[in-house]
Amino acid sequence: MSIKKISKVQPESFEFSKDNLQEVENEIKKYPNDRKASAVLALLYLVQNQHENWIPLAAIKYVAKLLNIPYMQVYEVSTFYSMFNLSPVGKYFVQVCTTTPCMIRGSKKIVDVCKKNISKNQNELSENKLCSWVEVECLGACANAPMMQINQDYFEDLDVNKTEEIIQALLEDRLPTPGSAKNRKNTSPENGKTTLLEIKNA
Ligand code: FES
Repeated sequence: MSIKKISKVQPESFEFSKDNLQEVENEIKKYPNDRKASAVLALLYLVQNQHENWIPLAAIKYVAKLLNIPYMQVYEVSTFYSMFNLSPVGKYFVQVCTTTPCMIRGSKKIVDVCKKNISKNQNELSENKLCSWVEVECLGACANAPMMQINQDYFEDLDVNKTEEIIQALLEDRLPTPGSAKNRKNTSPENGKTTLLEIKNA
């Protein structure tokens, strides 16, 4: 389990773009006037999308002001959820699942590839600053273990060679096609369906 790292280098200010301010308005409208705080997760998500995949402390203050709630309340939310990053993670953020099914299927070797190619320790940027990696708990794709998430995409049924190939592509600023490394369709058998053959899309 990784400990959330808070960047020592922080921008002095943060403001949403014009488009995101419109999104903020849409999100806040979903809740009653005295329940605006409920939009906090959506707003933090917008911050992260706008700000290179991480949330600076200035943005936490900014969101608190927008929602008219205490700074500490937004800080607590952003430090609690693992999907929020509080320090730079690079353009390609690699999350390796190391929970039991992935561990049994070899996630340690996937972590070793990250250590060798991206950075010795998790939460550190690669030399070219394009990539970082972190160990995470189950990402809900256990039937395709071992797997990792890169930004919003899942890469599944991995082995050492495939992981090396993917990481090398990221370090060259290319995002490979996500999905199963064994070309399985979702969680279907490797060599195609064996049951329910008569049902389409089963
Ligand atoms: S244990 Fe890795 S996705 Fe569930």
